[in-house]
Amino acid sequence: MKILAFAGSTSSTSINRELVKFVLKDFQNDEINLIDLNDFDMPVFSVDREKKGFPDAAHHFLKVIEDCHVIICSLAEHNKSYTAAFKNVFDWASRINVKVFQNKPMLLMSTSPGGYGGGNVMNTAKTFFPQFGADIKETFSLPKFYENFDLESGVIDPEMLKELKKKIESFKVQVTN
Ligand SMILES: Cc1cc2nc3c(=O)[nH]c(=O)nc-3n(C[C@H](O)[C@H](O)[C@H](O)COP(=O)(O)O)c2cc1C
Repeated sequence: MKILAFAGSTSSTSINRELVKFVLKDFQNDEINLIDLNDFDMPVFSVDREKKGFPDAAHHFLKVIEDCHVIICSLAEHNKSYTAAFKNVFDWASRINVKVFQNKPMLLMSTSPGGYGGGNVMNTAKTFFPQFGADIKETFSLPKFYENFDLESGVIDPEMLKELKKKIESFKVQVTN
């Protein structure tokens, strides 16, 4: 199975990327394409710029989605919503193909240092990603990242770890059947 994985962040110390990497350890027999949104840097979307054509990176983002079987991602939350970096890639790509996620099964996650774990961006994505072709199979938000996650060993809290593992297993069952 080909997995496209990404964090909705361009931070070099992204905690969402750490969460994605932790989850990917459970997919060691699969082909993983962990992309970095920094490689999809584009001008801020505008309808005027769009008239001059689409950046290659927008096409590339859609292509990496086309080439995968499933998507595993974790969204960073800025001011209760998507980061500007993710939103920009999303906006450009949606103008080429509104079904950005191309009906691929998705494990959708979020984390933040706060107690809601990026729950606002999660709620937005959970509500609206399906309109953009995401087939969301499971969701998981990790609150208080710096208390609940160790960079070496991953999720620390036993209950949260149990919940995450359950969702990973459920995701696997749903995408392999
Ligand atoms: C501009 C800005 C706005 C933020 N807004 C929120 C927010 O609304 N909710 C939240 O939980 N954390 C917020 N944070 C904290 C981020 O969750 C934190 O920086 C986290 O590390 C971002 O994820 P990343 O490390 O994967 O980029 C904000 C951070 C920045 C820089």
